Amino acid sequence: MSAESEIKRRIRERGTNGKITFAEFMEVALYWPQGGYYSGGEPVGAHGDYYTSTAVHPSFGALLAVQLFQMWHQLGCPKPFTVLELGAGNGLLCRDIRSYATKLSERFAEALRYICLDRRPTMAYESGTARTSRVLADGSPFKGLTGCILSNEYLDAFPVHQVVMTADGLKEVYVGLDGKELVDLADEPSEPGLARRLDDLTIELAPGQTAEINLALDRWARDIAATLERGFVLTVDYGRTAKDLYDPEARRRGTLVTYHQHVQTDAPLTLIGRQDITAQVDFTSVAIVGEKAGLETLGMVSQREFLINLGLEHLQLQLLDRGLSPQQVQANLAGISDLVRPDGLGNFKVLAQAKNIGSPPLWGLDHTEEAAALVAGLPPPVLTEHHLSLPDGRNLGGEAGFEDFWPT
Ligand SMILES: C[S@@+](CC[C@H](N)C(=O)[O-])C[C@H]1O[C@@H](n2cnc3c(N)ncnc32)[C@H](O)[C@@H]1O
Repeated sequence: MSAESEIKRRIRERGTNGKITFAEFMEVALYWPQGGYYSGGEPVGAHGDYYTSTAVHPSFGALLAVQLFQMWHQLGCPKPFTVLELGAGNGLLCRDIRSYATKLSERFAEALRYICLDRRPTMAYESGTARTSRVLADGSPFKGLTGCILSNEYLDAFPVHQVVMTADGLKEVYVGLDGKELVDLADEPSEPGLARRLDDLTIELAPGQTAEINLALDRWARDIAATLERGFVLTVDYGRTAKDLYDPEARRRGTLVTYHQHVQTDAPLTLIGRQDITAQVDFTSVAIVGEKAGLETLGMVSQREFLINLGLEHLQLQLLDRGLSPQQVQANLAGISDLVRPDGLGNFKVLAQAKNIGSPPLWGLDHTEEAAALVAGLPPPVLTEHHLSLPDGRNLGGEAGFEDFWPT
């Protein structure tokens, strides 16, 4: 049964005027094993529907490896130092991190045990080794890890509830049927947790305002806190603080979007199973649910600040004397620039949390010379056939180049 048939079956099963929450609709549309969006081919990359930082340039993984290297030291150089990557997809980030780890320190590379976790079977770019494993699971089944729980564009793929403020108070958006057509409709909220989340955040929606709420964050935080005995949580995603996310002027219609073949729309009830559906992450709630579960919030910066703090500039400079062709240099510089583009990936957020280790300073959160000095002495990572191919050195969006990002 296709995802769309399953959605309709569930609505009809609820009787006359049956309906399901938007979160249930999104869960089936994305993850139904027969024809759900993530049951299909690889969604990331030139032949997919969207790009992630991982695909854009290996510097993303390399600089994450630098941050992990510091965390390893802060934990007292444990062996194993486990990195559990949630929503690891095709494993390219694992491959890039492992590859740069070998340049950073042989001892670190040997201590690094990497677990790629995803709820869907995926093609694997990283080859399985004794120190890399793939796990098929919805959420983390582990306990007692020392290391770091890492994710990139993971929380934005969680199904979200949608609410709307009406003259009669807060209502929830459901999906129902009008004949054979899927339609959205508003009714009383299915769970008190929706109003409670907004209350906890002291957010009051304006009349007519629509917003998304990710209730699955609570389970995520409990899972993570139970998984981690001692160490860090690093979450990279697009999103905002709650105040910004629920701003009635800037985001009156919420942030839910759909992606199909790199075109962004906001029509989730169409192309079911053939388009991605995603909403921006409420990082204030991620921090709050984490604190309730026992995680300390260390800080949040933009991806641009994070990568620059970790020495991105040096990776760019070193590309110039690596014996690469001018096209290769240009393609690599363009990829790196895209990672920190202020109106694109650079505006993503990186949230750092910790458990049982206090609040140590992280290189990625605050600029220090240490990270830069480390990176300056190592060969830079360059694009491989697994990354986004930009043979003509074209940027993803615009003409900005090296000088625009590093004005002297
Ligand atoms: C937007 S993709 C990002 C893939 C990869 N991290 C990257 O940066 O290219 C989100 C991934 O998270 C996975 N995912 C979403 N919810 C999950 C869950 N509850 N448990 C495990 N994996 C999940 C999806 O299957 C998908 O592979």
